[in-house]
Amino acid sequence: MKVLKWILYGLLGIVVLAASAVAVILMTRPAKNAYPNEKLAFENKLVIPPLMEGHIENGERVFDLALEKGTTEFSAGRKTNTAGFNGSYLGPTLRASTNDKVRVNVTNDLGEASSVHWHGMHLPAAMDGGPHQIIENGEMWHPNWTVTNEASTLWYHPHLMGNTGAQVYKGLAGVFILDDANSKSLDLPHDYGVDDIPLVVQDRLFDANGQFVYEGHAPGSDLPKPSGMLGDTILVNGTLAPYADVPQTLVRLRLVNGSNGRRYNFGFSGDHPFYVIATDGGLLEAPVQSTRILLASGERAEILVDLSDVTAPLTLMSYQVTGPSNALIAFISGFFGQDDTGQQFKILELRPQAGSFAKREIPQKLNTIVRPDESAAIKRTVKLDSRTLNNKVMDNTRADFVVKQGDTEIWEISNQSPFDHPFHIHAVQFLVLSRDGAEPPAVERGWKDTVLVKASEKVRVIMKFDVPADPTLPYMFHCHILEHEDMGMMAQFVVVNDLSDEVKIKSPLLDPTDGMQMDH
Ligand code: C2O
Ligand code: CU
Ligand code: CU
Repeated sequence: MKVLKWILYGLLGIVVLAASAVAVILMTRPAKNAYPNEKLAFENKLVIPPLMEGHIENGERVFDLALEKGTTEFSAGRKTNTAGFNGSYLGPTLRASTNDKVRVNVTNDLGEASSVHWHGMHLPAAMDGGPHQIIENGEMWHPNWTVTNEASTLWYHPHLMGNTGAQVYKGLAGVFILDDANSKSLDLPHDYGVDDIPLVVQDRLFDANGQFVYEGHAPGSDLPKPSGMLGDTILVNGTLAPYADVPQTLVRLRLVNGSNGRRYNFGFSGDHPFYVIATDGGLLEAPVQSTRILLASGERAEILVDLSDVTAPLTLMSYQVTGPSNALIAFISGFFGQDDTGQQFKILELRPQAGSFAKREIPQKLNTIVRPDESAAIKRTVKLDSRTLNNKVMDNTRADFVVKQGDTEIWEISNQSPFDHPFHIHAVQFLVLSRDGAEPPAVERGWKDTVLVKASEKVRVIMKFDVPADPTLPYMFHCHILEHEDMGMMAQFVVVNDLSDEVKIKSPLLDPTDGMQMDH
């Protein structure tokens, strides 16, 4: 009996010691700041990325892009080492129309290998710019395709295996605007940089010398950070503390979440209403009035804000993102690198400028969305865990799914991890069918290529694979928290003409002699 008693005392002692160790760690960890830029004064004019419409050459719309290293003065007198396209941070806004034949001359002057992915674009796998389309330093790549997407706000960024997060964080990203006959016929604000403004929103962490801090993993481990790399400083189009002078009328904002992992719950000061008119891949059928729009990494939305009765500056905010709700999960996520919940940020100040503007009505009919036929759809399941898809980490030699060209498929994305993950599929735009069995909210009833799947949630999406078949090159699907992607939360699908076609991945990742056609 005595022995048992001492064992019990011993166990009790261990429990008390462990609990106090946890308490000490908790008390000495800096608490997450709920409103890191509360005191921010908007003092820098918002940078508008230069518009590039390309030049026409042999019937093609040709763009020239160069990946470069440089330094950027986000605040006066403090130079940060960065990277960009045709400049030191971010890149030009490319603009083309549906049915255009486009070609991009991409030069890599970065000093290291990279790739350029056209996020959201329907194109042949060889042009996708994913991990298999490596551009070595000093090389040129000339992807070309015919635009079949409808009018939308897409974007481009590197997608190098294991190195996407670091390269995007340095500044390599840009917006790709597409127009079509329908969008051109609508009376929507479309004067680029004036009443139609792209906003690439990113968070960064600066060290005492004004350099970017980048940590892909949880501190001192190889564990994933729940929300990826997070920063406490917001940049919009690479502008710190930005304001924008805008006409005192209807203004269109193209919101691009270009952050590695942070989500933004956008809304205006005073809950000034706005109208969501487009999701990732196209216009909604009708505008949806709202006061909040939540965008995860990779997602976009176009919104209209009517400033005709607004005289004082209006602040675009990111209000608190809620969840994960479980206290234990919140504790774990806080412990292994902070998550992005509970925080609020100032994003941008809009300063309405008076003028003589005719009263503008918002078109009530924006688009016609032809829904893919559900009855014939092939069904698949994708299970998300903390760092895997269907219990596997990325293997660039494996074709996880083989899809028949032209098929319609329904994917059930089932998040079995305690964290939220934005799920992205290359080469297609999908419609969200349901979230945990319920209809998606009105602001999500448009074409999308990235969807946030909350902890324990099941999201069903439907899409048609209308891209050319290529049994030798895969497309990616992955978590768009770039640090999760880089840790292997990514998989591949190949599109074939016939399911009996032999799938054989040919890529420089597998065999260096299987390079793309390059100029040196
Ligand atoms: Cu924006 Cu595969 O990524
Ligand atoms: Cu993509
Ligand atoms: Cu993830």
